[in-house]
Amino acid sequence: MFNDSYNINGGLDMPMSKEMMDAIEKDNVVFLSTSADNIPNVVPIGFARPLDDENILLVDNFMNKTRDNLEKNPKAAIVVRDASKCPYQFKGTVEIFESGKYFDDAVDWATSVMSKLSPKAAILFKVEQIYSVQPGPDAGKKVD
Ligand SMILES: Cc1cc2nc3c(=O)[nH]c(=O)nc-3n(C[C@H](O)[C@H](O)[C@H](O)COP(=O)(O)O)c2cc1C
Repeated sequence: MFNDSYNINGGLDMPMSKEMMDAIEKDNVVFLSTSADNIPNVVPIGFARPLDDENILLVDNFMNKTRDNLEKNPKAAIVVRDASKCPYQFKGTVEIFESGKYFDDAVDWATSVMSKLSPKAAILFKVEQIYSVQPGPDAGKKVD
């Protein structure tokens, strides 16, 4: 299931498998958890898609506390809504783009789905660790 040939990243222990990427792409929403000032925040995000096996593009259309948190603390975590199909927790660090290629791609994507959307930013989530959330003996264990 996993791509064990991966070795060119700087910090990622485990790339996303094709199954994980498909689940992120196909599920309607992922849950994005952020935190700053000791207050956790979780929101559903529809515009989330993997760009490759270590990066997920999220579109900031309406982020408020999420965006504030990410500006203060770029560490975040994601689970897909249908975690029974993809029982993993993705932890990573984001970069925020208000212009440039990622932003243009985010605008094209969002407006092609809903023409009235006016994205504020592209959020590039770089996956750094993957943990299992599968109920049972591996629950909470790092995937590596
Ligand atoms: C089904 C669903 C999909 C959503 N997708 C997005 C999205 O792709 N991008 C976005 O910025 N907000 C999206 N939202 C809105 C956020 O979940 C949330 O309302 C927004 O980030 C404000 O909450 P916050 O102050 O905690 O950040 C979505 C909400 C729902 C219910």
